[in-house]
Amino acid sequence: MEQKRDSFSGKLGFVFAAAGSAVGLGNLWRFPYLAAKYGGGIFILVYLILAITLGFTLMITEIAIGRKTGLSTVGAFKKLDKRFGFIGYLGCIVPFIITPYYCVIGGWVIKYLAVFVTGQVKAATSDNYFSDFIARPAEPLIWFIIFAALTAIVVMIGVQKGIEKASTILMPILVVLILGVSVYCITSPGAMEGVKYYLLPDFSAFSATTVLAAMGQLFYSMSLAMGIMITYGSYMKKEDDLRGSVRQIEIFDTAIAFLAGLMIVPSVFAFSGGSEEALNKGPSLMFVTLPKVFESMTFGGFIGATFFILVLFAALTSSISLLETNVSIICDKFGMDRKKSTLIATIYVLVVGGLVSLGFGPLSFIKILGLGLLDFFDFISNSVLMPIVALLTCISIGFFVKPQVIYDEVEYGGRKFKEKKFYTIMLKWVSPICLILILLFAVSEAMGWIKV
Ligand code: PFF
Repeated sequence: MEQKRDSFSGKLGFVFAAAGSAVGLGNLWRFPYLAAKYGGGIFILVYLILAITLGFTLMITEIAIGRKTGLSTVGAFKKLDKRFGFIGYLGCIVPFIITPYYCVIGGWVIKYLAVFVTGQVKAATSDNYFSDFIARPAEPLIWFIIFAALTAIVVMIGVQKGIEKASTILMPILVVLILGVSVYCITSPGAMEGVKYYLLPDFSAFSATTVLAAMGQLFYSMSLAMGIMITYGSYMKKEDDLRGSVRQIEIFDTAIAFLAGLMIVPSVFAFSGGSEEALNKGPSLMFVTLPKVFESMTFGGFIGATFFILVLFAALTSSISLLETNVSIICDKFGMDRKKSTLIATIYVLVVGGLVSLGFGPLSFIKILGLGLLDFFDFISNSVLMPIVALLTCISIGFFVKPQVIYDEVEYGGRKFKEKKFYTIMLKWVSPICLILILLFAVSEAMGWIKV
């Protein structure tokens, strides 16, 4: 990757490309189920606070590192300080953990698209439809393979350019559709309770788990602490406004997640009753709740199908950038050509993702730290590895490389870095302390040392 380093066509090009990677299943599928599970309003509040503090700090740092060095993650850290190449390697592991299970969920999205297109909406509204589906051995596996193959084909033949163009058209349509469906959901009988649950923070529901969940989600959703934004930064033009771009990506990503939650969480109250059980559905929430919403709408079959096509598209743009990252790591590390690297990465995704998919059916007896396979991979990447990478990034830049490097990059061309003081305190002190606490908590919880 190092030899030909293109740059984006300008600030907007950069923002769109980064947003295309950032906006995906994390916003549409993961954020709503976490918000539902972790107390609604309080989760949103914690998430927003983290986004403008920790998220801002990390994204500025990563993009600046990338632009400054012009290299992707391992090379970038090495160039700043030879001792820190290992942080880059650590970050590289994360996309390898996420990609397989991301493709499994992508497969579920295609399945639901097929359900709507073939007019089986009624059947899909029954309570056990989804759990029965994922427990089957072959069917989810087939949808998963289709999704992974689609991703691999794009990465292999490299039609990203077209995909990026398409996503600039399809993303706005997705936003309009989400807005429309949320208005419909909010105004459905019984939904008001859900809107309150989603918007009004209930401080008694606050716990360290809320912070852990919100932080893991922040990293995941903004593609942070895994080297992606470093790579993207390396493609950014020197003259472009780094700080402004970070703001825009953050606002866009958060707004989509917020709207997706506004669509799904009140629906849980209107269409499934706001019971604890309904709110705690976890990864299956979107697939259990939305068919009920669409079924109750006039032209619901058509609107549902359109919705799932758009979700599929958002998922694909993200999975492509995930697989692409795996491929470029294999290319760089083992000096293999692109075709071979893509093949190896795809075989890896198929094997590990296959296990994750079967983990809901024939392999459901496999539990690691009490978690099923998908939840385990999600936990290891979001709650353990990403906080470690984020912590090491803050410490290495804050105390060894020194924040001046980041200031210079942000202030390049005479721009102002308004939050410089705030940024420095966040980078050197607040973020590392919070990250250490959160890590200790995550590990203690997983090991069963503490109960929440
Ligand atoms: N940020 C993406 C999402 O929210 O769905 C997930 C992701 C995509 C992470 C691409 C990392 C990445 F490189």
